[in-house]
Amino acid sequence: MTERTKYIVGNWKMNQNTQDVIAFFDAIDSTKLRHEAWIAPQAIHIPICLQNTDDFKIGAQNCATENSGAFTGEISPASLKDIGAEFVIIGHSERRSIFKEDDQTLNKKTKLALENDLFVIFCIGETLEEREAGKVEEVLATQLAQGLAGVSSEKIIIAYEPVWAIGTGVTASPEQAQEAHAFIRQYINENLSLDGEKTSILYGGSVKPANVEDLLSCKDIDGGLVGGAALKADSYLGLHV
Ligand code: G3P
Repeated sequence: MTERTKYIVGNWKMNQNTQDVIAFFDAIDSTKLRHEAWIAPQAIHIPICLQNTDDFKIGAQNCATENSGAFTGEISPASLKDIGAEFVIIGHSERRSIFKEDDQTLNKKTKLALENDLFVIFCIGETLEEREAGKVEEVLATQLAQGLAGVSSEKIIIAYEPVWAIGTGVTASPEQAQEAHAFIRQYINENLSLDGEKTSILYGGSVKPANVEDLLSCKDIDGGLVGGAALKADSYLGLHV
C-alpha cells in the first residue's frame, strides 16, 4: 500500500489580525507537529506568516484566473508565488456558493496555479440536499471531471468537504467520510490523469481535536482541511495526532 503524505491544513478564512497571526506562531511548539503543517491566512497576511515560521507552508485561499492585467482586486498565482506562497486552495464551497465560481473557472485557476508551481488543494463536496437526494457520487464525479479536466500533476491535493459539515459542528462520520474518499480515489484512478494511490485526499468539515484521530485512522483519509479548530495554536496542535 502506498504511504501517502498526511496534512493538517488550516484555512483561516477571513479571520485573524496581525497580532493573532504572531501569537499563533509564537505558541506553536514545532516538536508536536506530526504531519505536514500548512496554513492559508488571508492573502494580505502571507508575508507576516512567512516572517514568523519556518515550520509551516503558507498558502492562499483563492487566486485569479490570469497572471496579470486589468483585474482590479484580484490576486494572481504568479504574485502569490512571488511573495513566497507555496499552495492555493481552489474551489472551496464558499467560493462556489457565495462567489458563484463554476467548474470551468476553477479548472482555469487550477491549471494556472500549477503552471506557477503552486500546490493546489482542490475542494469538492455535496450539499445536504444533494446527499439526501442520493446524489453524492454524481456531484463529486462532476466536480472532479470538470474541475480537474486536463490536469496531470503531483502537486494536486483533493479536499472532500461536505457543505453540510462546514462550520456547523456536524462532522461526517468516519464511515461517511471514508466512503466518499474511497469513491474519490477510485474515480481519480479510473477517469483522471492523476495517480489516485499517490494523491492525498483531505477531509474538511468540523474537524477538531476530539474527532481527528477517528477520521485520520480511515484508510483513504490523508489529513484535514480545518477552519475553526485551526485558529488557535493549542487547538491546531491538538489536530496533530
Ligand atoms: O476549509 C475548511 C472548512 O471549510 C471547514 O471549516 O470550521 O468546519 O472546520 P470548519
